[in-house]
Amino acid sequence: MNNQTIYCKEPLGERHGIPYFSTADFYVDNYEKISKDHMDVFEKEGKNPNIGEELWVKLEDSTAALLNKYTQPGEKILDVGVGLGRLLSRFDHLQRYGMDISWDYLEHTKKTGIEVCFSRIEDMPYCKEFFDVITCTDVLEHVLDLNLALTKILEVLKPGGILIVRVPYRENLKLYLESYYPYRYAHLRNFDEYGLELLFTRVFNCQFLEAQTAGYLESFRSLKFMLPIPRWVRITEMICSVSKALSSSLYNKVLRALYYPIDINVVVRKAG
Ligand SMILES: C[S@@+](CC[C@H](N)C(=O)[O-])C[C@H]1O[C@@H](n2cnc3c(N)ncnc32)[C@H](O)[C@@H]1O
Repeated sequence: MNNQTIYCKEPLGERHGIPYFSTADFYVDNYEKISKDHMDVFEKEGKNPNIGEELWVKLEDSTAALLNKYTQPGEKILDVGVGLGRLLSRFDHLQRYGMDISWDYLEHTKKTGIEVCFSRIEDMPYCKEFFDVITCTDVLEHVLDLNLALTKILEVLKPGGILIVRVPYRENLKLYLESYYPYRYAHLRNFDEYGLELLFTRVFNCQFLEAQTAGYLESFRSLKFMLPIPRWVRITEMICSVSKALSSSLYNKVLRALYYPIDINVVVRKAG
């Protein structure tokens, strides 16, 4: 497919084969810094400084399961705020597109075969009603104007198309106000299932298909800072499997007591 059928406007230019539709400003610079710090640690230590690999994969699994349910081979999918393209890397039977405002991420993601562009959501460059499915994971908590971002995203989704959003669930935002927090801002708002349903149905006139939290099982929460989380995750998993072997009602009680949601996925259908 050539650029004229993908984009509704001419790019401002091209860098390393990636078209760009936005220019640097205070917002873009902030995210350029976050992604650069991430990639520096990633290149040296092979990990993400902001989230453990085990939890990250769990969150991705939760969205991937929904994508498996709501996509058909060959459909056109856009990942808004594609990052390193990890989610889409699992779906090479789809026509994959990704947009972001980090050159470091985009250069990496392009190499994985995903068609990428540099653009803020607010400068959405794609043709109207172009995509069958859109994903947007861990991005909407960052944007300056949530309603504008969603308006732009929904414009490029086909009528009847599926939007899957994953955002932090009832997060305590205090960290982002601390003087030691290294960035001007990262997460700017909080979400829960009721607010998301109201937003998508009452404001954006979408059909709300489902909501699912994603998180991990955790025991001894107060001790979690003393030892790395994965250790506690394993202990918790052991408690779960023992209780499961003993009785299903005990297992359900254990699950309820130990489950700690981090993110929530919601699936909505754009009005047809
Ligand atoms: C926490 S990362 C999530 C990346 C990826 N979606 C994932 O789940 O791993 C947030 C991403 O959104 C991008 N981003 C933030 N605000 C954006 C905006 N207004 N327009 C486009 N991308 C944005 C950031 O550069 C970053 O790559």
